[in-house]
Amino acid sequence: MTVSISDLLNTYGSPLYVYDLGLIRQQAAAIQAAFCYQPTRFLYAIKANPCPPVVRTLSAAGFGIDAVSPGEVAMALRLGIRPQDILYTENNMTDAEMRQAMDQGVLITCGSLDRLAALAAAGATEAAVRFNPRIGDSEHAKTLTAGPLTKFGIHHSQVDEVLAIERDSDLRVVGCHMHIGSGSLDAEAFVAAMQVILEIAARLTHLRFIDFGGGIGIPYREDQQGIDLPALGARAAALMEDFCASYGRRLELRLEPGRFPVAEAGTLYTTVTSVKTNPAEDGHPARTFVGTDTGFNHLVRPCMYGSYHPITNISRPEAPPQVVDVVGNICESGDIFARDRSLPLPQPGDILAIGCAGAYGMSMASTYNLRPLPAEVVIDGDTVTLARPRTEIADLLDAWC
Ligand code: LLP
Repeated sequence: MTVSISDLLNTYGSPLYVYDLGLIRQQAAAIQAAFCYQPTRFLYAIKANPCPPVVRTLSAAGFGIDAVSPGEVAMALRLGIRPQDILYTENNMTDAEMRQAMDQGVLITCGSLDRLAALAAAGATEAAVRFNPRIGDSEHAKTLTAGPLTKFGIHHSQVDEVLAIERDSDLRVVGCHMHIGSGSLDAEAFVAAMQVILEIAARLTHLRFIDFGGGIGIPYREDQQGIDLPALGARAAALMEDFCASYGRRLELRLEPGRFPVAEAGTLYTTVTSVKTNPAEDGHPARTFVGTDTGFNHLVRPCMYGSYHPITNISRPEAPPQVVDVVGNICESGDIFARDRSLPLPQPGDILAIGCAGAYGMSMASTYNLRPLPAEVVIDGDTVTLARPRTEIADLLDAWC
């Protein structure tokens, strides 16, 4: 990339989110090539990053949209995505949200028996059902979405109740869905859950698709291995072939990756504002804090899940490395991007790149401490486009009446 990051920061302000559309296309192509079963349909989990050029890039690559809220459905529709290419996987939706999705012509995936019954009572003729297949896997307990502790999905033992709703109404369950967790690097858990979902699917008679959800992780740490996607794709294909042979119809396979296509394509650039060292004290070694002009309000993952994000000092790559804590400017002690990280020792004014920030970065950002949101910029080859200007303090203050 020939774009100068310091020019971008001068133009759009620091901190700044930058997404590389070329990398998004590469990741999309990799996952599409790996899942060789035909037909396979990819729905981009727009919650990972709803920035319009990112969504358009994935839509152009053939992805539909997995939405989990009326806002996400609205964004997909605004970007010209057809209602039939959107799946709304509800979670504790209201009646009003349900009717709106029905009016929009968007298929709803129900995650509880009462919401499924309400959908049937409202006159819907089709729905998908999300089951909790009891097996899950994720980067962190907070992103585990299967098993006894999670609020998501209809319990795997409650298929009879789903069949009863179908029998007593005009509603047909056309999709059997799971999403077992996020950030998984364990293909075995994924395959085991697929098997449970296919056992459930065998009992549903009107299916058009099986949806194995999202969850495929990426290697955030330099020493981590990504999932062997072609191997996982081949196993999913074999399971689907066997299933469809006994089901008597060839069903569509759906996948809902959010993180995989976008995480590595996004970087949060931040400027170092202060470097200070506390001397050794009370058995604690000396500690150097590298303070930045961003915080967990802009990238909450390290603070919320203890997630590791690679950090590089792009201003001073040759400086001698030192073990430091990289921290933010939010008024909380937990505002830490990295503890004990070896970095070419930064000085105030240096630019740090916090990598793998394209998924669940800006989409989870807040304005805590009344700090505005950073701008978002997309790069496509040598072309730079501002996708969203930074917000200003006045925008925040004017939100109150
Ligand atoms: N489908 C459904 C129904 C989901 O709930 C999710 C994510 C996905 C697909 C996409 O999962 P992915 O491929 O991105 O793992 N904020 C957390 C992740 C929460 C994901 C919630 N649901 C994080 O930063 O790790």
